[in-house]
Amino acid sequence: MRVITVLNQKGGVGKSTVLMNLAAVLQEAGMSVLVADVDPQATSSGDWADSAGESLPFDITGSTSPAELAQLRQLPYDVVLVDTPGSMEAGDVLAAVLSQSDFAILPMEPGPLSVKPLMRTVEKLVVPAGVPYRVLVNKVDPRVQQDADDALEMLRTYEIPHFTTTLRTYKVHTFAPLAGEVVTQYTGRASMRAVEDFRKLHSELLTIWAK
Ligand SMILES: Nc1ncnc2c1ncn2[C@@H]1O[C@H](COP(=O)(O)OP(=O)(O)OP(=O)(O)O)[C@@H](O)[C@H]1O
Ligand SMILES: [Mg+2]
Repeated sequence: MRVITVLNQKGGVGKSTVLMNLAAVLQEAGMSVLVADVDPQATSSGDWADSAGESLPFDITGSTSPAELAQLRQLPYDVVLVDTPGSMEAGDVLAAVLSQSDFAILPMEPGPLSVKPLMRTVEKLVVPAGVPYRVLVNKVDPRVQQDADDALEMLRTYEIPHFTTTLRTYKVHTFAPLAGEVVTQYTGRASMRAVEDFRKLHSELLTIWAK
């Protein structure tokens, strides 16, 4: 059992999108996956669950307190993915969640303005918790490879551990919560490329865990 937390105190960077679709590809690869959410409003995974009903390929719990995460560990899942609120006020909750986590993923958007808020979350919360982590560049313009390269270069410069996989922006992702779908269920033009990004992420994650 591994508890993976997805966090970044900056809102709207793609935490919930990354979490739900990573859950989908992990499940596709044969793991049993539970999605939990410590956001008291449980907006993130809640949006999907409300629309999807029973059709999501993995399990979701409702709003979970950090203390309850310890109990989730007793459940027979291979992976528990924890979604978190994107706000500066959430520091205490995030610290409590990180103390229960085996790994952390920090999605960020490309662009120089994203780095400072990210560094704050890393230095204030993730490093003190001693949790292994990787930053994940999300929302890369599929037509501008340079954006991804620049973001990765910046992370290298600041010596921030990161995935070399980057996730591209596709409109299908924005419709997914409402449709109650995850990337392995998408249909339509960009769906192959969207799922390809997440399968790459899965395989990079396996390489990291193997070390
Ligand atoms: N790769 C992507 N392609 C297209 N849209 C994306 C992508 N990633 C995220 N989005 C969109 O960006 C918006 C914010 O994403 P999301 O809700 O996942 O972020 P979040 O970090 O969980 O936000 P919050 O901090 O509010 O919880 C959503 O509309 C989502 O559909
Ligand atoms: Mg969210």
